[in-house]
Amino acid sequence: MILVTGATGHVGAELVRQLAAAGTSPIRAMTRRPESIDPPPGVEVVKGDADDPAGLHHAFAGVERAFLMSAQPTGPRGERPTHLPRLVDAAARAGVAHVVALSVFSGGEGDDAIAEWCGHIEDAVTGSGMGWTLLRPGRFMSNALHLARQIHHGDQVTIPFANRPAASIDPADIAAVAALALTTDGHHGAAYQLSGPEVLTPTEELAILAELLGRPLRAIDPPLDTVRAGMLRGGVPEDVFDAMVARTVGSDVGTELLPTVAELLGRPPTTFARWARAHLDHFRTEGKPAHV
Ligand SMILES: NC(=O)c1ccc[n+]([C@@H]2O[C@H](COP(=O)([O-])OP(=O)(O)OC[C@H]3O[C@@H](n4cnc5c(N)ncnc54)[C@H](OP(=O)(O)O)[C@@H]3O)[C@@H](O)[C@H]2O)c1
Repeated sequence: MILVTGATGHVGAELVRQLAAAGTSPIRAMTRRPESIDPPPGVEVVKGDADDPAGLHHAFAGVERAFLMSAQPTGPRGERPTHLPRLVDAAARAGVAHVVALSVFSGGEGDDAIAEWCGHIEDAVTGSGMGWTLLRPGRFMSNALHLARQIHHGDQVTIPFANRPAASIDPADIAAVAALALTTDGHHGAAYQLSGPEVLTPTEELAILAELLGRPLRAIDPPLDTVRAGMLRGGVPEDVFDAMVARTVGSDVGTELLPTVAELLGRPPTTFARWARAHLDHFRTEGKPAHV
């Protein structure tokens, strides 16, 4: 039995689909809202919440391999993540043999609030006593989905750090690597740094969406002070925001084109244009934008 946590997420939903299509092992999909999921045939759905550690026992019972992810927002320096370590703990107690855990690009490397948080997450996985594989992807192509509402309403699209390039990756490619590490041997102790096939800015990604949609879309890069005020109001700790800015504005991390996806999967990673075509319905305007 393979358990997929975050089974309604960008990576987890794809992973459930790919594992079910491969049909090599029984699959269990974990969500806090089992009623919200329409799983592929044969996939068992289980309720599980990282805020309810006692209830995780049921989700992990009888599981041999598990995909672990957490959407817990990064806390400030000194605060430790709870969600991923609880999933690791539940997996270890249930006798899971191997876990594949979703981390971030460069994992816990560095000396800022994000590195400290991610370091705790990776340490929980690598120190668990189970077999483990870490996935360290860069920016997700699916982040562009956050722009859909603005695109529905007009041609001007505000995007923080609109001109920061990255080799963004299709979550389905991350899921394909996860599926490989869950279903074949030889991945214990690997930390796979993952990128997409091209380096693009969000402005360039918006231009690709504009062409596919047949609409003129213009990216607006808001002043840093505005981004800062919005994010702090939204609950992002100040030192996490500062770390984000240092990593985004003051560094080129995440701009390397890495061979990992192609080496592991035997095919190149998905381009943004291909990802966008597959998700175009999310961006289509119902009727004309209000100002036209
Ligand atoms: N976005 C990026 O550019 C990027 C880049 C590198 C790494 N990452 C990492 O990728 C992860 C996000 O992955 P994603 O985009 O696939 O996630 P996502 O689409 O945001 O989905 C979040 C998932 O987390 C689950 N979840 C939320 N709260 C939970 C809880 N209390 N207990 C159990 N499950 C919970 C949700 O399940 P239910 O709501 O159904 O329960 C959902 O399936 C984060 O760890 C992030 O650090 C993201």
